[in-house]
Amino acid sequence: GRLLIVHGPNLNLLGTREPEIYGSDTLEDVNELCRKTASERGLEVQTVQSNHEGELVDAIQAARGNADGIVINPAAYTHTSVAIADALAAVGLPIVEVHLSNVHAREPFRKHSYVSALASAVIAGAGITGYRFAVEHLAELINSRR
Ligand code: DQA
Repeated sequence: GRLLIVHGPNLNLLGTREPEIYGSDTLEDVNELCRKTASERGLEVQTVQSNHEGELVDAIQAARGNADGIVINPAAYTHTSVAIADALAAVGLPIVEVHLSNVHAREPFRKHSYVSALASAVIAGAGITGYRFAVEHLAELINSRR
C-alpha cells in the first residue's frame, strides 16, 4: 500500500516558522516520521509540499489509482479552499486531516475546515506526533481490508 502525504502553504518553513506554535521540527523531520511509521506497517509514502493551491489540487488528483490513503495538512487552505476539498472528494480515498496546532484554541477563522467533513479522522494539536497517529490510522484501515 501507499500513502500520499500532502503539506500545504508555508509548511516548507517548518522549524523556523513561529516555533512556539508549530514546533522546531522541520518538514523533512515530519516526512521521515511518516516514512518510518509507514514502513513499520508495510506501507510506502510519497510526500508533496506546495505553496500553490492548484499544485495541491494536481497532486491530490494524481493520487487516484496511485495511493491508498491521504494524510493532508492543508495549512491555511484548510479554511479557504473549496478546490482542495473538491479534489479530495473526487479521489474518494480515506483521508486524515492533520494540524500541528490546536486550531480550535486559536483565532475563530481557524475553526472552520472545508476538509473535515471528508476526513476519516481529524487530528489537531498533537504536533508532529499527529502525523504518526494519522499514518497509523490509515495503515489500520488499509491493512484490515486485505
Ligand atoms: C495549521 C493551522 C492552520 O490554521 C495554519 O494556517 C497553518 C498550519 C497547523 O498545522 O496547525 O498554516 O494547519
